[in-house]
Amino acid sequence: MADQTRAPTLDPHALARELSGFLLIDGDLRPALSGATFDVVNPATGETVATAAEGDAQDVAAAVAAASKAQRGWARLPARERGRLVAECGRRLTNHAEEIGRLLALETGKAIRTESRVEATLVSDTLAFYGGLASELKGETVPFNPSMLTFTQREPIGVVGAIIPWNVPLYLMALKIAPALVAGNAVVVKSAEEAPLAALRVIQVMNQVLPAGVLNILSGDGPGCGAPLVAHPGVGKVTFTGSVETGKIIARLAADKLIPVTLELGGKSPMIVMGDADLDRAIDGAVAGMRFTRQGQSCTAASRIFVHESLHDAFVARLKARVDAMTMGDPLDEATDIGTIVSPQQFDRVQRYIALGETVVGAVAHRCSALPVDERLTRGLFVQPVLFTGIPNDHALAREEIFGPVTCVIAFRDYEDALAMANDSDFGLAATIWTRDLRTAMDATQRLQAGFVQVNQNLVVQPGLSYGGVKQSGLGKEASFEAMLDHFTHKKTVIINMT
Ligand code: NAI
Ligand code: MG
Repeated sequence: MADQTRAPTLDPHALARELSGFLLIDGDLRPALSGATFDVVNPATGETVATAAEGDAQDVAAAVAAASKAQRGWARLPARERGRLVAECGRRLTNHAEEIGRLLALETGKAIRTESRVEATLVSDTLAFYGGLASELKGETVPFNPSMLTFTQREPIGVVGAIIPWNVPLYLMALKIAPALVAGNAVVVKSAEEAPLAALRVIQVMNQVLPAGVLNILSGDGPGCGAPLVAHPGVGKVTFTGSVETGKIIARLAADKLIPVTLELGGKSPMIVMGDADLDRAIDGAVAGMRFTRQGQSCTAASRIFVHESLHDAFVARLKARVDAMTMGDPLDEATDIGTIVSPQQFDRVQRYIALGETVVGAVAHRCSALPVDERLTRGLFVQPVLFTGIPNDHALAREEIFGPVTCVIAFRDYEDALAMANDSDFGLAATIWTRDLRTAMDATQRLQAGFVQVNQNLVVQPGLSYGGVKQSGLGKEASFEAMLDHFTHKKTVIINMT
């Protein structure tokens, strides 16, 4: 069994083997009760690097029982003490950021320098942010009646189920578990099948600091392990990031229990480049916004780029040149900018969309960068980034979430047309506009239908800023202080009659 107190393990293969076959329940690494496991495959080579425990309803029951028991004592700690412990988890994790980044690169194919190490660091940052907010879990006094002391207090919900995806598993997990814990809840995480190891390592390190049972993690598949977690009567709140389809299944299960859910779902985020935009900045913004370093596997990916016709050709040529200059290769190599797609299923999905785009009359697929030539990587799930031109905004390629390195560049003449196309989507997660004109910028910030609108930049979700979509992109907000209050506590009203 992995020693919880020893120094970081920089060899990700060794760490993967060490963590093989375990869930973490009630402070202990343990196998699934059924004994079942599934393979964890390095998508850059196709080799199996570990097995993960395949949790099912019995393990869910054990984890929820441990969490329920631990939650009572956890909620009774002074709020600042909970915050101090969560922030201390963040400090511990900074010592493990390198090993965790490497492990994440190994299991997901996300490049170490551009993605995986950065993500491991964001976890500590998020825990520090929420740890400092604990004493702000305040209620109000209410002037209801002079002879009745009336106040509200924020109480934890109890046990929170957190179901996370594989694309940014650690950061998205931190954005759920940090506010849930600080607010006094216990948490049971269900990791994604494609990325169980780094998440387990994060939870294991946090369990060096937290009381046993407060934070547990299960691995396993969606229907076999995620669904029983949502359905368990001891779980009072579910927070989920993933596909729209699965989000709806979870919302239906939660409706049967009448419990709240937070859903962070997909996107088809528009980027509008006006004729007066600073082209250099817009190109940088497209590279960052499309998350090419993450193979486009982002819910906020700038996967529809509307470019004024006066800039269109120059934009495509320069964006292509920029992506051409990026190095695709071994995710664990420091020289690599772009790693692999996470799984064969996602690889096939992305290839299907690219093939579909190529059937559109008048469309051109501009393939960027070069596939790696390294012999060891011949079975790797590498996809050349594709810039499509000539795809109409109503085509499936411009409507459906591809979750790969594929973006549609669409020309426009008139601002109103660009805005109408940007909003003509089932999704509403993020949007950007690039212009030097303040009036256009302000108009767009008011009229773009998205939870997160940026002008002349394309940042990812940040601790402290409410984040979450409209339309099919989800329900509820994450990442901010008010998200902690609104989604991980309930407000109790108390009256003390003093007459
Ligand atoms: P998914 O939504 O099925 O999986 C996300 C998580 O939900 C995983 O932990 C999975 O085990 C769990 N899950 C699946 N079925 C469940 C169920 N019935 N009950 C409870 N939990 C369940 O996404 P998947 O299959 O990994 O990817 C498919 C597509 O979803 C991607 O191509 C992408 O378009 C989208 N996606 C969007 C993400 C986002 O950040 N918004 C993240 C991951 C996927
Ligand atoms: Mg799925």
